[in-house]
Amino acid sequence: MSGAALATLLALQAPPGDGAALYASWCASCHGADGRGVPAASTRLEVPPADLRDCKTSTAEPEDRWIGIVTQGGAAFGLSLDMPAFGEAATPEQVRAVVRYARSLCGEPGWPPGELNVPRAFLAEKAYPENEIVLTTRGRDQEAIYERRLGKRWQLEGALRTVLDSLDRPFGGITAAAKYNAWYDAERRALASVGLEATPPLGRADRWEIEPFFAFGWAAGDVVVIQGQVVASLEEGAGLSAWSYRVGAGRHIGRVVPMLELEWGIPVGGDRTLSFYPQCWVQLSRLGHVAASLGAELPAVGIEPRHPRLIAFVLWDYGDAPLFRGW
Ligand code: HEC
Repeated sequence: MSGAALATLLALQAPPGDGAALYASWCASCHGADGRGVPAASTRLEVPPADLRDCKTSTAEPEDRWIGIVTQGGAAFGLSLDMPAFGEAATPEQVRAVVRYARSLCGEPGWPPGELNVPRAFLAEKAYPENEIVLTTRGRDQEAIYERRLGKRWQLEGALRTVLDSLDRPFGGITAAAKYNAWYDAERRALASVGLEATPPLGRADRWEIEPFFAFGWAAGDVVVIQGQVVASLEEGAGLSAWSYRVGAGRHIGRVVPMLELEWGIPVGGDRTLSFYPQCWVQLSRLGHVAASLGAELPAVGIEPRHPRLIAFVLWDYGDAPLFRGW
């Protein structure tokens, strides 16, 4: 039986009731009564049904994505055809009710919801804890970043930098960081995190640098994203060397989010700088776990010469799906 026919049949049999009843009649046969998924052998599915009870994956995705998957089916998001589309047979209210129920199966409070996971900007550190790999190029500098979520609120991060310029020393240095989501408000769609970055004297870094930071994100009214970060830079032997204030705003237009960021650099005893970072974030995979961004750094105030630089990154949210699924 095809997925669509199955969905129609299941919908016809569905009781009109609440999310739990809809779940029991529509979803439990594959995802299991408790949401953990039933073994693929018993349902003869090629891809095992997702574990809907796993807080780590269910909370990291926005509710609208699950509504999309249940309405349009897995194939519309590059997932297995075995995940049927219920959109023809069910009303939008029924889909919402069953999705809300499925998302409640996690059962643990305190996981920041995926609605707060706004698109990554060039400068302002994302306040949301992530499982992500990011490759960035900025003029002649390259950076590879590995971010790993720990539990509900923590994220650890490691970064490796290289510089391809005329000097014969491409190794730029490494940075380790930890971030903690200190506060979120699902209703207001806002969150704030604190973190610490440490750069040892390796590669082109000649002394320790420690950077405590505060970051916030706000998904205002669904389509607008605002994020910002305050960073203090402390250098070995010199103490506080600079403050940086970063703020950016963008707007969702389909799969694209144009953004503008500003950074004020306030070195202790030096000249202030102001730079603009126009950029455009693009969702590449249908599932949304692979994205890229392209833009520039435009220095406006500060030390001469002020050259614009191209910036680009690609990222893979590996907590969401394997790299080659979801296209
Ligand atoms: C015929 C079996 C089947 C039925 C019935 C079914 N699913 Fe699925 N579902 C799957 C399979 C298989 C996957 C995995 C798809 C993949 O990873 O490619 C899946 C994936 C999903 C996902 C994606 C999870 C993620 O992490 O991205 C969600 C959400 C989901 N199902 C919800 C539901 C809900 C809610 C229902 C009931 C309305 C339902 N499913 C009914 C088989 C089914």
